[in-house]
Amino acid sequence: MDFNLRVAEWYRSHKRPLPWRESKEPYKIWLSEVILQQTQIKQGLPYYLKFIKKYPSVFELAKASEDEILKNWQGLGYYSRARNLHTTAKHIVDKFDGIFPNSYKDLIKLKGVGDYTASAIASICFEESVAVLDGNVYRVLSRYFGIHTPINTGKGFREFKTLATKLLPLSQFGDYNQAVMDFGAKQCKPVSPDCRKCTLSEKCIALSDGFVKTLPIKIKNNKILKRYFNFIILKTINNRTILEKRLQKDIWKELYQFPLIETKVSITKKSLILNDDFKSRFGNKLKSIKLLNSKQIIQNLSHQKLHIKFWEIQIDKKLKNSIDWKQTKSYALPIVIAEFINNFSK
Ligand code: ADE
Repeated sequence: MDFNLRVAEWYRSHKRPLPWRESKEPYKIWLSEVILQQTQIKQGLPYYLKFIKKYPSVFELAKASEDEILKNWQGLGYYSRARNLHTTAKHIVDKFDGIFPNSYKDLIKLKGVGDYTASAIASICFEESVAVLDGNVYRVLSRYFGIHTPINTGKGFREFKTLATKLLPLSQFGDYNQAVMDFGAKQCKPVSPDCRKCTLSEKCIALSDGFVKTLPIKIKNNKILKRYFNFIILKTINNRTILEKRLQKDIWKELYQFPLIETKVSITKKSLILNDDFKSRFGNKLKSIKLLNSKQIIQNLSHQKLHIKFWEIQIDKKLKNSIDWKQTKSYALPIVIAEFINNFSK
């Protein structure tokens, strides 16, 4: 039996009951696929349910404020996805009366919609014969066909896309694409797949040649940027503080944070007080300063490692543009700050 027939047969009895699978509405498929990029289904599912409840159609999503969307996205990471989601929702409402484009060619023109999302929407909603490539599909194909080309290169993308396209069945493209993804997630797992119980084991090259653990190949990006963030929590006697919006082209764009002093290395209280940026922004407010987390918090992002310290400065004057401490939680915050506030307020 062929690869695609076996995978399709496997899917009939192993299909995951996911809420967006009950629908072919482009809005729901688009939303679910954007949420699921770089996110596991288990983590993304509650966000999908929350978004559908708050924004049942593209019209409600377009009408919402960016701050509110980012707040609802809090914790999912890769926040540009949420900003693009909003931009595209507004575009679809303003330019297309709320109706999604119905082909790969037009879907891929939308902001935040790349090859993967356009293929997923086109095949699932419109039965266009386009193949999806996500991490699961790369893994299944690289193992079964014994392909060692790195998947995170242009060459890898082209090679796998050509192969995946050739493998498409004659119909039911949406189901088939989702079948390969589920097969990768549940059967051909990244670690310790149960190859003895696999419907593809007979002809799987990685299994016969001993490459299951090695494939797929990914070129390592060793350039991890180390950054040192010192968040300054200003606190007045009547429990007010300051949050600022991150506007630079950087991580966490459009989210809120405590005023930040970024340094080249991890610093002590003494050197923070002597830091020029700190002096010019907080020197006149300084009465006492206290480090709130004795052990710096580490947050690993895809290409950055953040070393985070929270410093508290008690202020006995009024602060301009301050907010009540209790309000901080209602802002869209990087998760590390939201968690800190939660723990700190206990
Ligand atoms: N991962 C992301 N989208 C998916 C889908 N539609 N089916 C299975 N796995 C997925």
